[in-house]
Amino acid sequence: MPKPTPAHPDTTPYWSDSASISNFPAVERDERVDVIVVGGGLTGLTAAYLLTAAGKTVAVIERQRCAQIDTGHTTAHLTMVTDLRLPDLVKRFGRDHAQAAWDAGLAAISRIDFTIQENSISCGFEWVDGYLHTPLAEGDEPTASFEEHAALATDLGFDAAFVQDVPFAGGPGIRFERQARFHPRKYLAGVVHAIRAAGGRIYEHSEADEFSTDPLGVKVNGHTLTCDDIFIATHNPLVGVRGVASATVFQTKLALYTTYVVAGRVAHGTVPDALFWDTADPYHYLRLEPRHDHDLVIFGGEDHKTGQVPSPNECYQRLEETLTARLPDIEISHRWSGQVIETPDGLPYVGQMADHQYAATGFAGNGMTFGTVGAMIASDAILGQANPWTELFDPGRAAIRRGAWQYLKENADYPYYLIRDRFAGAEGRSLRSVKRGQGLVLERDGEKVAASRDDSGAVTLRSAICTHMGCTVAWNEAERTWDCPCHGSRFKPNGDVISGPAEAPLPEVK
Ligand SMILES: Cc1cc2nc3c(=O)[nH]c(=O)nc-3n(C[C@H](O)[C@H](O)[C@H](O)COP(=O)(O)OP(=O)(O)OC[C@H]3O[C@@H](n4cnc5c(N)ncnc54)[C@H](O)[C@@H]3O)c2cc1C
Ligand code: FES
Repeated sequence: MPKPTPAHPDTTPYWSDSASISNFPAVERDERVDVIVVGGGLTGLTAAYLLTAAGKTVAVIERQRCAQIDTGHTTAHLTMVTDLRLPDLVKRFGRDHAQAAWDAGLAAISRIDFTIQENSISCGFEWVDGYLHTPLAEGDEPTASFEEHAALATDLGFDAAFVQDVPFAGGPGIRFERQARFHPRKYLAGVVHAIRAAGGRIYEHSEADEFSTDPLGVKVNGHTLTCDDIFIATHNPLVGVRGVASATVFQTKLALYTTYVVAGRVAHGTVPDALFWDTADPYHYLRLEPRHDHDLVIFGGEDHKTGQVPSPNECYQRLEETLTARLPDIEISHRWSGQVIETPDGLPYVGQMADHQYAATGFAGNGMTFGTVGAMIASDAILGQANPWTELFDPGRAAIRRGAWQYLKENADYPYYLIRDRFAGAEGRSLRSVKRGQGLVLERDGEKVAASRDDSGAVTLRSAICTHMGCTVAWNEAERTWDCPCHGSRFKPNGDVISGPAEAPLPEVK
């Protein structure tokens, strides 16, 4: 692939070069369906998938081609780590709500993982670590702020650890476990196949130009589609939704930013397979896309308010310089840019705009996860099901202001919470309750496990059954030891015997 230059700027994203998605016809006649989804990006297609799977008849109408606009220009980090840093999220919304926002990100990754498994989609999905680290270009973040940030994330139940020397990036930072990456267009090629197989209709070259409320419907290519519910998943929400006062809430509060990407090939193993975000402002983001004979390094940043920079080429150039300073041998093969949309408080807007009309926007740099969550919220609303994040992402955020919202308590039955162990961290939900410096006896697969967490956040698991005569040990908070109430044996957190009668250590637990 020849290297693009400012004189010959090919800005086709790597994703379009490496995956095709079926073509779909344009709307050519009047139709009636249960739900119209406007917009064929990740948000709209995910909603269409969930709704067809639930038995609804759905029509997706896409102005151009599916998965080509912002979804086709993404970098597809799948992460719960929001652009607005966790300490700021906590300051702005409180601990519960900040935890809820990050849980939403994890739930989205788990939703994507399920969809991939349900439909055997081959799209390079991998669970990888994510690292927040000091700026790649210059400047320093005080180590202490990373330590506090990691401690806060751990306290809120996420698997995070302060790292003195971040791989590849160098310098201090935070490792977040169980984040993921995928090829977004290969994923959505599988999703559109599943939508079609479930009877969903997808139309391309079909722009929604006029909405009507009685009956509810949309004019497309001169034809009228009518429905019970509409989901507007156009990223930048439509101006043309008539008679809907709250549409203006979305539009006036949104800030559009352009963000740039360069990508190039390096030898396998040059860069670890992980997600990287630095703390520069605007921040840089980097990931790998493994190929059979090389790795593609995908590097983004240089965000600015759309239309406010005279020379986008200089943005590409600065990105390229920052990347080649780290990887002098990289062969740049791609460059592209796209838009991210920000809200004033850093969380997306997803909600009902009028009777039976929903919209989702303002995902910032987390549109793969928040777009998925937006689709989950909208489809749950249409299906009459509760969703844990409805109030958090509601454009009015009324419940949050009241401070009366107890999302975990009220949403314990939501499918994500029933399987959260798998996604909350490597060790599962029950371990979330083990704070730093503490130990708890937990039940796992019918076995009693002595679980302790040291000051760095690392968890140690041992059998909780005393090796003397089988009593259950208990955590001694003052000494940080496991003590047996029966005959007084004492064990270190790693199970070693401190004092008998027990002679053998507490066995390791897988
Ligand atoms: C460079 C870049 C890097 C990014 N990196 C990440 C990342 O690493 N991780 C992450 O989570 N997010 C990332 N994002 C954000 C993420 O890509 C987007 O938020 C997400 O793709 C938005 O998806 P969407 O489906 O809502 O919107 P889109 O993909 O823009 O889809 C909206 C669709 O609506 C259609 N449409 C618009 N108007 C009409 C109409 N009137 N009628 C019919 N159709 C219409 C459009 O043609 C479009 O196809 C990145 C974004 C960019 C630009
Ligand atoms: S059973 Fe534990 S000390 Fe005897």
